[in-house]
Amino acid sequence: MSNLIHLNTDTTSLVIKAEKSLPEILYWGKRLPEDTGLDTFFEANHHPVPQARIDTGTVVSLCPEHARGLFTAPGLEGCRHGDDWTPEFSLSETTMDGHRVRFLCHDPRAALQLVINLGLNPGTDVLETSLTLTNQGDSGYQLRKLTNTLLLPTHAREIMYFHGRWTHEFQTERKKLDRSGFILENRRGRTSHEHFPGIMIGQPNFSETSGKVYGFHLGWSGNHRFHAEAMSDGRRYLQAGELLMPGEVELAPGASYSTPTLYSTYSNKGLNGISQNFHRHVRREIVRFPEPGKVRPVHLNTWEGIYFDHDPEYIVQMVRSAAEIGVERFIIDDGWFRGRNDDKAALGDWYLDEQKYPRGLQPIIDCVKDHGMEFGLWFEPEMISPDSDLYRAHPEWMLHTDGYDQVTIRNQYVLNLQIPEAFDYVLGRLDSMLSEYDIRYIKWDMNRELVQPTHNHRAAFHGQVQAYYRLVDEVRKRHPLVEIETCSGGGGRVDYEVLKRTQRFWASDCNDALERQTIQRGASYFFPLEITGAHIGAKLCHTTGRQHNADFRGITALFGHMGVELDPARASEEEKRGFAKYIALHKSLRHLLHTGNYFRCDTAHKESQAWGVVSQDQSEAVLMFAQLAMPEYAMSATVLIPGLDPQKQYKVQVLENSSSDIYMKRCPPWMVEPATMSGALLEQVGLMMPVLQPESAMLIHLEEI
Ligand code: DGJ
Repeated sequence: MSNLIHLNTDTTSLVIKAEKSLPEILYWGKRLPEDTGLDTFFEANHHPVPQARIDTGTVVSLCPEHARGLFTAPGLEGCRHGDDWTPEFSLSETTMDGHRVRFLCHDPRAALQLVINLGLNPGTDVLETSLTLTNQGDSGYQLRKLTNTLLLPTHAREIMYFHGRWTHEFQTERKKLDRSGFILENRRGRTSHEHFPGIMIGQPNFSETSGKVYGFHLGWSGNHRFHAEAMSDGRRYLQAGELLMPGEVELAPGASYSTPTLYSTYSNKGLNGISQNFHRHVRREIVRFPEPGKVRPVHLNTWEGIYFDHDPEYIVQMVRSAAEIGVERFIIDDGWFRGRNDDKAALGDWYLDEQKYPRGLQPIIDCVKDHGMEFGLWFEPEMISPDSDLYRAHPEWMLHTDGYDQVTIRNQYVLNLQIPEAFDYVLGRLDSMLSEYDIRYIKWDMNRELVQPTHNHRAAFHGQVQAYYRLVDEVRKRHPLVEIETCSGGGGRVDYEVLKRTQRFWASDCNDALERQTIQRGASYFFPLEITGAHIGAKLCHTTGRQHNADFRGITALFGHMGVELDPARASEEEKRGFAKYIALHKSLRHLLHTGNYFRCDTAHKESQAWGVVSQDQSEAVLMFAQLAMPEYAMSATVLIPGLDPQKQYKVQVLENSSSDIYMKRCPPWMVEPATMSGALLEQVGLMMPVLQPESAMLIHLEEI
């Protein structure tokens, strides 16, 4: 019987050799033709052994082993008080279930069992992998590392990775993948703004529309480590798993540890192919909406409008103005609970501040509902302020290490959710608020990192993340219709594991449209628009001090789950007309934006960018073209639009333009009079763009004739 496992989707093939030792990838890429004699091909085409190396040759398996003379980073590191540190597994059983494979492996000497799970999703082209280690010995096994490993083809030579910070998330950077290797480590205890757990590796110069590329994302909201390397023999691999602290995980006899899931996908059409696969996967396999098919309601979030200054009478005015401009969900952000007058106190005291709200929240909720909107409320459940009743009553609930002073970040500590009483307390408070009021939406925030977290004399990163997942799961179980947004000072906690429990993420605390252009583009590599929180902020941006007109802010916020983050009651009539216009436009386009295929264009001039969405049946598309900085040239380049139907004719017209035509004596004629153009020509020859003012954007609509 063949020892090759061949998984196929419409576009991708994965071939794995599963013999006596741990399985290895022989091929992963464009779908192979049927009946090509794979066995004999790989028999004759298997790795040769170079001189002066291990005589039997080495295999970069799905969990590389030092024991076999492979000097890469091993897939498993651990020991039993020094012993059993270099296990050598044999494959005991391979089980296939459709597109899923389970490899059961053992090392009887080390008394360890390893299960490698792998599934290539036929509907999305995304490969899911995870490993589970079980201690079958009669003493504890100290686990330092268990990680997913994937062998890459030799043309995988360039990396694109993501970095950032508060108000500056999802920034991209490129690097050569060479012998010095690439390591991305996150030790912040949340997914983090700084080291998003995603990476692209592909042919040199892969672009949005061209090149063979592999995309990876680790679904985990805590510490992680990515390691990619070109070995001295030219083979390349990627590892991604949780980063464990010394002694953090000790497996008692019979206990298991599972890695987070690594999501990977292949495209031979550049980064757009990767994003489209990931988006499909998020839509079909990750995010669960309590009411499937319900449109994403336009938000008003009070944060930048009123901060901590909560006056119910005034909030009612905001509600009315919000309804006038078309808002559908009204969310009261931070500042509603006892003693929360600034960011220095009260986290943990999740009781309504009756001084601020003497008549409770009900009058506001009634007003919100009377205006046809839903009501949402902000919480930061995992936190505790030193100046809070909760801390005064239970200082021991603060996550810390005995004998050391715990630092504050944003004046706050973290609540140790592994203490059952602390967990029950915060669950009880959330449950009580959600039961008392008709709250349909939680903005679940998390504004600081974990520093020196210990529980039961061990590092507590892993346990805290697991406890957080349990907490959200329990809240959802008790209140299944409530939608949850994951926020962490903006986009500090968004990944596919948290998205299994939430329906939206707050991409950034930066509402500056210019910055948002880059942030939202970066997020779009992994996340579809309907879950990407994007708001129109105040004209004078609170986090950058820049000013943009309502059109640039509106066009930018339109590409996401849209909202406004300002005080509409104080806005001028002209501003309000602008917000209403873009909210209405978003509503008219949201079927397309939230279900279609998202793409980014390769723009010739680096100061401009373009992205768009084409409907699944390719009958309609919307394109955004933005001028980020001063145009380098007096004329703009054409923009090639990928993803249209080459056979179809489209009516092309401008929907909105935030720029004056200061640089143009004559605009391209299609801007003045809608024109008919073929999908084939728009993709190959492209659409001629005007030169826009810096920091402006244009919205273009394409509709099948
Ligand atoms: C950080 C969030 O990202 C903001 O949107 C806001 O909710 C504040 N926290 C409130 O403290």
